Amino acid sequence: DQKQYLVAGELKKWNGNTTQVFSTISSSEEYKPTLLGSIPDMGEVEALDALDAALSAYDKGQGVWPTMKVKDRIVCMETFVEKMKEKRAEIVKLLMWEIGKSLPDSQKEFDRTVEYIEDTVEEYKDLDRGSAKFQKHQGVYAHIRRGPLGVVLCLGPYNYPLNETFALLIPAIIMGNTTIFKPAKHGVLLITPLLEAFRDSFPKGVVNILFGRGRAVAAPIMKTGKVDVLALIGNSKSANALQEQHPKSNRLRLVLGLEAKNPAIILPDADLDLTIDEVIAGTTSFNGQRCTALKVVYVHEDIKTEFLDRFSKKIDALKFGNPWDNGVKLTPLPEPGKPAYIQELLDDALAKGASIQNDKGGQHSENYIWPAVLYPVSKDMRVYQEEQFGPIIPVLSFKDIEEPLDDMAESNYGQQVSLFGKDVYTLSPLIDTLANLVCRVNLNSSCQRGPDVYPFTGRKDSAQATLSVHDALRSFSIRTFLAFKDN
Ligand code: G3H
Repeated sequence: DQKQYLVAGELKKWNGNTTQVFSTISSSEEYKPTLLGSIPDMGEVEALDALDAALSAYDKGQGVWPTMKVKDRIVCMETFVEKMKEKRAEIVKLLMWEIGKSLPDSQKEFDRTVEYIEDTVEEYKDLDRGSAKFQKHQGVYAHIRRGPLGVVLCLGPYNYPLNETFALLIPAIIMGNTTIFKPAKHGVLLITPLLEAFRDSFPKGVVNILFGRGRAVAAPIMKTGKVDVLALIGNSKSANALQEQHPKSNRLRLVLGLEAKNPAIILPDADLDLTIDEVIAGTTSFNGQRCTALKVVYVHEDIKTEFLDRFSKKIDALKFGNPWDNGVKLTPLPEPGKPAYIQELLDDALAKGASIQNDKGGQHSENYIWPAVLYPVSKDMRVYQEEQFGPIIPVLSFKDIEEPLDDMAESNYGQQVSLFGKDVYTLSPLIDTLANLVCRVNLNSSCQRGPDVYPFTGRKDSAQATLSVHDALRSFSIRTFLAFKDN
């Protein structure tokens, strides 16, 4: 049960109202959501306490943390990661119960996060080594290094409550910023086992952890205008709402990972065995609840019938079950309202002329929903326009490559694309065009964020700033330098 929170280096006890946290996985034969625990319903008072703690720890750049020697900050981070490793089993279990992530994916999320922290420490050492060098241009010597930005408010998403949250929090901390972190609504209890590790690894006030609704906790913090960085992975509605609260939003640095609508484009000479496997991974992994998921599939007219037939059969053969079931590929969705939303999108598409291609598509029992392959999808359908973040696979066919390219150019999003075809490696003009529309072009493979050393970003409404082991350290810092003349 989550009845504690971390502010100013103290684990405080919460005696106020709480919200129960349920799992959509039922522990009984008769379907009944499982009560997992409860979290504090915090408000303005606790939020402003956390802000004060972060401001005092930063102390206008004079605090212990922003002025600490690099080697000492590294010791703190290494202490934290060692303590975190002890919590693997508990966190993996909570990932399965809270968000319905399969056992292998939950283990991967944990291990990937540990690796992310360890790689960040190494990258930080490199950055520091690089900054030890002096430059000289036109008689002026410079010693350029990277310094912190101030107080970072950090909000993570429910689909990667550990990994993506830490992809923001860890680089923000190690660069000397002080932080306030509020976990997402789902995947919140799994932060509990780490509260002590945060408290015992960093000086007081460097990491402050709050629980509650974003509106109640994050908004009052933003209103003070004292936050220097808003770091959020989630939806643009929340990001915009928070940004607007800041009275001097031009002074606010944004590190945002937002919506995407990544397309797969399947050329007529594509190897269909490989393509189908990759498109299945891209559309159904974690039930499509990934910003990097393939959310629209363009298949060439010449191979449309064969693709739809083979793809639909393979989707229906995937194994559905609970996260710990052996070989499971599809699991229940953590958001209680999701089945109704998915049904609305399906009804809208069916009314506008699409049909569900796979026998099991759209069938559901409570929050266990079979992915629905929809064809032909048109641009007036909600499923084409909305990110949906779930198990619907909209398919469009094309005759001319200009058709998907035009759609991508018109889209509000620009994160990634997957291009499937025999000779894609040689299609440089097409690849160059795609790279001008999105930030990552995947050849004969589905879209993904990792490996985490590669830049993770997007054009248009998909992102602000770049994350990765390398880039995030830069996103959460500013270059400062010492200059002197040769005289
Ligand atoms: O939700 C967006 C995540 O960044 C997806 O990450 O490609 O590693 O699953 P992933």
